Amino acid sequence: MTAVYQTPAAPTARVQRETVLDAVDLKKHYRLKRGLFRADATVKAVDGVSFVLQTGRTLAVVGESGCGKSTLARMVTLIDPPTSGELRFDGKDMTVGSREEARTLRRKVQMVFQNPYGSLNPRKRIGTILEEPLVINTKLSRAERRERAVEMMGKVGLRPDQYERYPHMFSGGQRQRIAIARALMLNPRVVVADEPVSALDVSIQAQVLNLMVDLQEEFDLAYLFISHDLSVVRHIADDVMVMYLGRPVEHGPKETIFAHPRHPYTRALMAATPRVNPALRQDASPPRGELPSPLNPPSGCHYHKRCPHMTDRCAVEVPPLREVDGRRVACHYAEQME
Ligand SMILES: Nc1ncnc2c1ncn2[C@@H]1O[C@H](COP(=O)(O)OP(=O)(O)OP(=O)(O)O)[C@@H](O)[C@H]1O
Ligand SMILES: [Mg+2]
Repeated sequence: MTAVYQTPAAPTARVQRETVLDAVDLKKHYRLKRGLFRADATVKAVDGVSFVLQTGRTLAVVGESGCGKSTLARMVTLIDPPTSGELRFDGKDMTVGSREEARTLRRKVQMVFQNPYGSLNPRKRIGTILEEPLVINTKLSRAERRERAVEMMGKVGLRPDQYERYPHMFSGGQRQRIAIARALMLNPRVVVADEPVSALDVSIQAQVLNLMVDLQEEFDLAYLFISHDLSVVRHIADDVMVMYLGRPVEHGPKETIFAHPRHPYTRALMAATPRVNPALRQDASPPRGELPSPLNPPSGCHYHKRCPHMTDRCAVEVPPLREVDGRRVACHYAEQME
């Protein structure tokens, strides 16, 4: 194997969007053993999620804690295999195929984690951390690896003289820049970022988000961006998928969903973050009550017990995800959410 970099295409040559990754009805069910006298339980952590990721575009996944965001991220990056469903990279199923193919695919889909303190080995210098993927996956010489690492440090806003430093010598924002640089070392096509700025001060968040936007453009990356914060999502997303207890409830272009959310849960999330949508006429209020246990989710629409619009139908009939007004939404009454 030779160089892992491609020369990035000139910005003007890149108006065409291509689908890189295609997820179809992904599910991840965990079986929990509950001892001798109780039946095993199943957590449907992700229960039927489909989406496409395109070059140069960002799909943001939002939802409360426990709705399955990280589980989804682990499936897409092949850390954890799906219970069922398909995951295609450039049209090829990622979950079957030889080990060699799986390795290649893993390189093409990289992950950035939430915690910039835990995700970098404290005993290794930044240069070593950045070069590790090259040692494992390429035949580049030591000098070539160093050159690539320093070049990537420049792209994420670090200085060449920081190459010898250890993670503890950096701030949280800088560490996240290092984590992003590491994710890009093998020239991936997809980056899955699981709450990449949630651990950072708000003042630093925008810098890291802007960096991610610049890098996306430069390398034509597809992002799966996970966040529970709608103001972050509003900043970075092209498309948005709102999840509730493992299921997508609303999915479509950001503008469409922010201008006129049609799922009561999306509306409640927006009401809980008033600054993202002050103009919206809102009859919604923040989500009421507790998130139900994922071990025993409500029948019918999972959201019905918290929903101000619920009817008897919602308690028995699972609302399918269907096209309404330019997005997909899983609510029996989506048309009436004015
Ligand atoms: N390895 C596992 N075994 C059993 N249950 C799991 C496992 N991993 C996740 N879960 C359960 O699956 C559900 C989804 O978890 P997940 O971590 O994907 O949520 P999340 O949306 O990332 O939450 P957060 O916002 O807190 O990070 C939760 O109910 C969680 O307890
Ligand atoms: Mg998570």
